[in-house]
Amino acid sequence: MIKKSRDSRALITLKDSKSPISEAYRTLRTNIQFSNIDKDLKTIIFTSAIPQEGKSSTVANLAVSMAQAGKKVVLIDCDLRKPTLHERFKISNIYGLTNVLVGEKGIYQVIQFPEEIENLSMITSGPIPPNPAELLDSRKMETILDELKEKVDIILIDTPPIGIVTDAAVLSTKVDGVILVVGYKQAEIEMVQSAQSLLNKVGANIIGTVLTQIDINDRSYSKYGSYGYYGEIQKQADNRKKKRAGRG
Ligand SMILES: Nc1ncnc2c1ncn2[C@@H]1O[C@H](COP(=O)(O)OP(=O)(O)OP(=O)(O)O)[C@@H](O)[C@H]1O
Ligand SMILES: [Mg+2]
Repeated sequence: MIKKSRDSRALITLKDSKSPISEAYRTLRTNIQFSNIDKDLKTIIFTSAIPQEGKSSTVANLAVSMAQAGKKVVLIDCDLRKPTLHERFKISNIYGLTNVLVGEKGIYQVIQFPEEIENLSMITSGPIPPNPAELLDSRKMETILDELKEKVDIILIDTPPIGIVTDAAVLSTKVDGVILVVGYKQAEIEMVQSAQSLLNKVGANIIGTVLTQIDINDRSYSKYGSYGYYGEIQKQADNRKKKRAGRG
């Protein structure tokens, strides 16, 4: 049976595509497209230094946003330790990637098409294996990515935190790019630096970072505030405050 998804895991890009948060995911989509100029970035993994920094939320919403823009997207759950993507999209995880990796199923037997999201296909984790890193390091994993690359525009991949287990480092050598998700206030700077050096050590192509979990009312964030949508909201709020103060 498919577990009911928790509210915090609801996909905002599906539920409310006009919200500022969905707009932020569209900005991320555009930034990735720009970083793709002159390069062939078809496979991208999302990782973070420590757990709970927002990897799965980011990759899931970005996948929806890219599919909404007409790109053919495959979203793969390579977090074979704590997979969540199937819950977010309310699809089954009886069969998935691990069944293909151990040779029980073919890719096209496990690929799923979440309802009402045109252009998006998904491969869930499948049953949790005892040896995730070994499976992800296999030749079979490379074959799966090569085969899918021929068929779609982009492959987005969720992974576990690189500061905790080796899976993302292993995968980073098999993909075109890595995005490091950083939970503002959650990960210490040293942890992020150490994640970065782990990726550099294996020769990963870090294409950028995504800052998550920002409180837009937090004044310490205002140093970033002149950029992007949230900065605009903050500026408008500040202007309103100034006007009110001037009147009073
Ligand atoms: N951009 C964001 N802004 C605010 N909160 C966020 C954002 N992205 C994720 N979160 C919140 O952060 C928490 C962790 O999110 P998520 O499950 O996506 O992280 P994760 O890195 O995949 O975790 P894990 O390491 O356990 O797989 C959730 O409560 C989620 O709602
Ligand atoms: Mg996750």
